[in-house]
Amino acid sequence: MIDFHSHIIPQIDDGSSSINESIEMLTLSKQQGVKYMVATPHFYASDGTPNEFLARRNRAYNRLSDAVAGMNLPEIFPGAEVGYFEGMSDCDDLAKLKIAGTSLIMVEMPVCRWSDRMLHELAAIYEKNGLIPLIAHIDRYIKLLHDKKIADKLNGLPVIIQANASYFSNKKTARHALSLLSKGKIHLLGSDCHNITSRRPNFGEALEVINSKLGYDAIKRISYNEKIVFSSDKFAAKELFI
Ligand SMILES: [Fe+2]
Repeated sequence: MIDFHSHIIPQIDDGSSSINESIEMLTLSKQQGVKYMVATPHFYASDGTPNEFLARRNRAYNRLSDAVAGMNLPEIFPGAEVGYFEGMSDCDDLAKLKIAGTSLIMVEMPVCRWSDRMLHELAAIYEKNGLIPLIAHIDRYIKLLHDKKIADKLNGLPVIIQANASYFSNKKTARHALSLLSKGKIHLLGSDCHNITSRRPNFGEALEVINSKLGYDAIKRISYNEKIVFSSDKFAAKELFI
């Protein structure tokens, strides 16, 4: 399985604090059935350019890759969690922030009410750049999506949805999470792990809940989605659009 959301690269954001902590996070993830991890350090346009961010990310990623070489831990794909910003669809370097090996660009949406302009921006990312917005941790916006107008507009967009594992493992939200997954409104999972203490790898907890409540077919469907977004066919992921 692929953990699509992690702050596994050390000393680049509020995630892992050291190579050793990253190794512990990778070890825990492996024990939970994770074969690949997508590293999604925060990118905020207000903090610098994509090129500046990528230089830092790549340095830290290479350092970690060298440290874990030969350790048989989950393989890491570099990406970014791109904080939504106005005009992002016109940013020349946006494609450089995509998840390696895919056409996905992970977007962290604001927690305020999503305006039409924001939703148009998401559509424009696909139309102008051929990149597919992967909405990070949809579970943070569930209250917003109770607004039928916003939910309906989101349904028509060329986007793919990621949910955090805690959405499934938390008893208060599990039912809703399982319902959205069954309806095909959640495509990919992520731990959003930051460390080995307060926000540790928990991908396996979500898999257990999904397997016990919906059965193995639901896990297979997520695996299928994972394959599709890593397919070399640029248009294959279209079938997942909500
Ligand atoms: Fe995150």
